Amino acid sequence: MSSSESLVEHSKRRAAFAAVDKHVDSSVRVLGVGSGSTVVYAAERLLELKKQNKLHPQLVCVPTSFQSKQLIVESGLTAVDLDDLPELDPGSNSFASIDVTIDGADEVDSELNAIKGGGGAHLREKLVANASKKLVLIADYRKDSSVLGEKWTKGVPVEVSPLAWRTIKRQLERLAPESRAQTSAAGSSTTAHAFEFAHPVAELRQAVRKAGPVVTDNGNFILDVSLGRIHDPPTVEHLLKMIPGVIEVGIFSKMASEAWFGNENGSINCRL
Ligand code: 5RP
Repeated sequence: MSSSESLVEHSKRRAAFAAVDKHVDSSVRVLGVGSGSTVVYAAERLLELKKQNKLHPQLVCVPTSFQSKQLIVESGLTAVDLDDLPELDPGSNSFASIDVTIDGADEVDSELNAIKGGGGAHLREKLVANASKKLVLIADYRKDSSVLGEKWTKGVPVEVSPLAWRTIKRQLERLAPESRAQTSAAGSSTTAHAFEFAHPVAELRQAVRKAGPVVTDNGNFILDVSLGRIHDPPTVEHLLKMIPGVIEVGIFSKMASEAWFGNENGSINCRL
């Protein structure tokens, strides 16, 4: 492993450990476990806490992928399906069934909007995040960004039905950047684009060595849609989601309550 690789791994580990230590104690009864390589370190910390008897004795974990389920089981924890859980606060406005979810991210902007789905698990990740009282993201310094699309240049992962992926691709590539009016404090009006590229490109995600399309845990395909910088994540998420055959979009607008980054210099920072 090169020194820059080990720096990245070290920063993932620090972010994951810090987030688990802050959010997972003996009061947490239901925990969402995300997917990806950073979450592996979160599972490592959970195993340590379990050995120290610092977790709730009846803790159950909700996986977001096959990988995540395996991590839960290997950490000696119990995996349950989202829909088997009761509401945490029946009768309240919240329908949450999970206390807190810890998950990775491909990029997080200054307002905690995120791109996820680099590992193709964003459908289940979003379902689990949506059912959580708190979504806590963990990542290394390469994912810490001011605007989505600035650092993650592989495109927004969009899970689509294999039945019509070519049609969906064509439609995605015809999306216009969508002008929206902006009024300054002085009252003058300008227009801004929700995303940067005038001509988006949607690529079918391929398995290694072009062994055919990547098939998600849910039996679907993924189109990675390059839009350039995303200035208005909620609008873009909505635009993509409106296309028939789009199952889920890897933009997580305003879902996270915190993001922990391991920095290059060995420190950690938490964005709230
Ligand atoms: C999978 C994801 C992952 O959380 C994201 O890709 C980050 O992965 P890693 O921690 O390996 O960088 O969204 O769908």
